[in-house]
Amino acid sequence: MTERLRIALQKKGRLADDSFALLKKCGLRFAIRGDGLLARVKNMPIDLLLVRDDDIPSFVANDASDIGIVGENVLVEEQLVAKDKLDAEITMRLGFSRCKLCLAASESSGIMKFGDLEGTRIATTYPGVLGRFLKDQNIDAKLVEMKGAVELAPSIGIAESICDLVSSGATLEANGLTAFETILESEAVLVQSGRKLSPEKQALLDKLMRRIDGVIKSAETKYIMLNAPKDKVEAITALLPGSDAPTIIPLAGSDNLVALQAVCTENIFWETLEDLKALGARAILVLPIEKMMS
Ligand code: PRP
Ligand code: ZN
Repeated sequence: MTERLRIALQKKGRLADDSFALLKKCGLRFAIRGDGLLARVKNMPIDLLLVRDDDIPSFVANDASDIGIVGENVLVEEQLVAKDKLDAEITMRLGFSRCKLCLAASESSGIMKFGDLEGTRIATTYPGVLGRFLKDQNIDAKLVEMKGAVELAPSIGIAESICDLVSSGATLEANGLTAFETILESEAVLVQSGRKLSPEKQALLDKLMRRIDGVIKSAETKYIMLNAPKDKVEAITALLPGSDAPTIIPLAGSDNLVALQAVCTENIFWETLEDLKALGARAILVLPIEKMMS
C-alpha cells in the first residue's frame, strides 16, 4: 500500500479558498464536501486534513500531518503561546493571503502611537504576538483576549484599542478605526516539522513544491508580443520588466518593423503598455502563462 502524504489545511475562509485553488493548479484533483474533515486526492497519494487554522502548527509538530498550509500569523502566534516549542517551521513562502497584524484605535481615543498604549486596554485574538511586542517595547498594557469581532471592542467599551489582522482595511474603516502600527507581516506558508519523511513521501513533497513554485512564478509571468520599429528594439526591451533577451522576428513585407516576443517575469501594467506605444510599438498583446517549469 502506498503511503499517503497528509496536508493540514484550514477548513474555510479566505486563506482556505486560496489554498484549495493553489493545490488544484498544481494538478491535485479533489472535492471539498460540506463538513468533511478529510478530502482524498484522487490522482495522487495525498490526503487533505481540513481543520481549524490554529490547530495546524501543532498537527504538524505532533505528526498528525506531514505538512500544513497556514497563515504565518497563526504559526507565529501558536509558537508563542505553546507551552513547549512546537516542531513546525516554514519550508516555503506561498505569496498569497498577505496581511498585517496592526494596532488600531479611533481618533477619539487619543491613541496615535504605540507609546500611548501605556496603562490602556488592547483587545486581540493574538495575545502571543501582541504580548511579545509590548514586552519588547517595555509597555505595560492590559490584554483583552477575544475569540473574534475584535473591531467591536472599542465601541462596546471593553478596550481603548485593538490589535487585529488588516488586509484591505475595510473592516477597520467600517468601525471608525485607524491602524497606527504594524507588529507582524504575514502571508500563507508551508510548514513542516524537523522529522524525516519516508523517501516516497519526500519525493512526492518535492514534486508538489516544484509545482507550487511553478504556479507562483507563472501567476506573475506574462508573455508579451508586439511589433516595433527596428531602431526602437533596445529601448522597448529595456521597458519590459524582468525579461531576458527577447525573440526578434522579421515581419514579411516590412523593412523597418520587427515582431518582438518576450517572457516577462513581473506583471505588466497599463502604464508600461502606454510607454511601449509611445516608443512606436504596435499590436501589443500580453498573454498569461498557464504553466512553467525551469
Ligand atoms: C480578518 C480580520 C479582520 C478582517 C480584515 O477576519 O480579523 O476582521 O479579516 O480584513 P480587511 O482589512 O480586508 O477588512 P476574518 O474575515 O479572517 O475572520 P475572523 O476575524 O473571524 O478570523
Ligand atoms: Zn476578523
